[in-house]
Amino acid sequence: MCGIVGYIGNREAQGILIGGLKRLEYRGYDSAGVATLNSTGELTNIRAQGKVAQLAELQVKNRKTDSIGIGHTRWATHGAPSVKNAHPHTVGRITLVHNGIIENYQDLKHILVDKGYEFQSDTDTEVLAGLIDSLYSDDTNLLDAVLGALRLVVGAYGLAVIAHDTPDQIIVARSGSPLIIGLDDEETFIASDASALIGHTDQVLYLKEGEVAVCKAGDVQLYDIKANPLSAAVETLEADMQAIQKEGYEHFLLKEIHEQPDTLRATLAGRLHLDTMTASLGGINMTAEELRAVKNIVIVGCGTANYAGQLASYFIEQFTDDISVRVEIASELRYRSFHVADNTVALIVSQSGETADTLACLGELKRRGVRCLGIVNAVGSSIAREVDGGVYVHVGPEISVASSKAFTSQVAAMVLFGLVVAQAKGIGAKELAEYVQELDRLPFEIEKVINTVEDSVAHLAKEYASYEHALYMGRDTLYPVALEGALKLKEISYIQAEGHAAGELKHGPIALVDDSFFEVALIADNWLYEKSLSNLIEVNARGGHVIAITNSQKPIEAEAVVQLNTDLTVFVPLLFNVVLQLFAYYVSLERGNDVDQPRNLAKSVTVE
Ligand code: F6R
Repeated sequence: MCGIVGYIGNREAQGILIGGLKRLEYRGYDSAGVATLNSTGELTNIRAQGKVAQLAELQVKNRKTDSIGIGHTRWATHGAPSVKNAHPHTVGRITLVHNGIIENYQDLKHILVDKGYEFQSDTDTEVLAGLIDSLYSDDTNLLDAVLGALRLVVGAYGLAVIAHDTPDQIIVARSGSPLIIGLDDEETFIASDASALIGHTDQVLYLKEGEVAVCKAGDVQLYDIKANPLSAAVETLEADMQAIQKEGYEHFLLKEIHEQPDTLRATLAGRLHLDTMTASLGGINMTAEELRAVKNIVIVGCGTANYAGQLASYFIEQFTDDISVRVEIASELRYRSFHVADNTVALIVSQSGETADTLACLGELKRRGVRCLGIVNAVGSSIAREVDGGVYVHVGPEISVASSKAFTSQVAAMVLFGLVVAQAKGIGAKELAEYVQELDRLPFEIEKVINTVEDSVAHLAKEYASYEHALYMGRDTLYPVALEGALKLKEISYIQAEGHAAGELKHGPIALVDDSFFEVALIADNWLYEKSLSNLIEVNARGGHVIAITNSQKPIEAEAVVQLNTDLTVFVPLLFNVVLQLFAYYVSLERGNDVDQPRNLAKSVTVE
């Protein structure tokens, strides 16, 4: 979703800002812009609809040596993607970029129009610029004007503001949308996402909710909304360039799919103990007694994170006999009247740690006194900071908009939590050892699957890439995998894909089977094999074009079959999921789509 960058120092700002915006491209956007000021306060604002590359072309014609500026990638909310709606927006002496939504912008706009302000765009952001300008008089400084405006707005923002008559400072503010400030000797960098800072500095300050900062070259001063000075805690950013490069892969998604054996190992490292056949989690901050008392788990997330929760719920209920797990879509839960039973722990699942709906549920659950644990990837993100404890999944930056390695590790992290609870509740040593051993072998098995099926899956993808509809079906633990597989396909191939519980097909969806559809049947070699096979046969009988994916070695009649060779029994759904990730990738490739930045999607959904 929208991205912010800013720079103030002694070098040319334009190039640094555009470089930063390129790093934020993965978040998804539809227009981009950068504005810089020279030492006399003259503004250069260049904006382009489309990609940052188009902005870079404009910059060549409008090159400036200015050493202060702000930049933005916009994901349209108020007003269509266009140059006039692209940020930065200028009103009077104020130029700003903004992530989030100002909910009362219509009311504010009416007040400002009555005062004589005119607006060029359809955005809420331009109104905010007008509001700050209206409060920025000769006897008010920029900080006071920004604070005054922020006290009047309702909504969410991450903000970077410059004023034409003070070309030595950038004011940034955060409420509901993340911002990070990077500091070097004589330079200060601003970004909504740490990936834009990597390679510039590793000394960073995460702005907290409600904080405002005055950034000067190599210096920052923090304030609260009432203008009280705050102390700043600078941290060392732990990420490197290697992690955000493609390393020879054609796309980040393919790289991230291939990384899964290693990223999963990173999730399990230090938490799975083969010597004692146990699991442990350092960051959950719960005693054995507290773990024993857990009776209910509510898992909250959106999209892939929600499906990871659904899959994990099957496992956790299998490990214990007195825990019930419910999985909630964050955007639904936040507005519903819901009840939380006693002895509930909430798992808040988010790769980015910034998803607005998930964050709102965290707030609501905490307000009700529920212990909330994060299953988060982005270190230092909003969710990671606000939970009572949690498990970092440690998969490194996930750049492709479509999530892959995060899913696998989110499931693994929740499985670890389930095992830790089960241990506290006295799970038998033999049963526990089986789970621990399987989990330990999972990275190797994923590696094996990728090595053995990738070519044939790529070939299959070519054959099915021209369909416009797909049905995915699976039973038990393969049902959430069907949902996730269908999501992956629709996101990056734009094929309409639906996931179903295979047993539900005859209750409706089977009516869809015709020549314009293909079906993906996930068939596990377990006690449900015959039932899953019957569902496949029912589709075959109606002329379906079925791709069967199975870990059974028995022959299956289908238009195409992908066979997995593994002796895993419990965590085998994660292998099926890797096949579906590869399939979606190669279908998207075949259709010539923008694999890593699919249309209309954003990586980090920081607005609801
Ligand atoms: C799908 C995908 C999204 C995210 C969802 C939640 O490939 O990436 O469905 O899973 O937007 O994002 P996080 O995990 O960052 O909260």
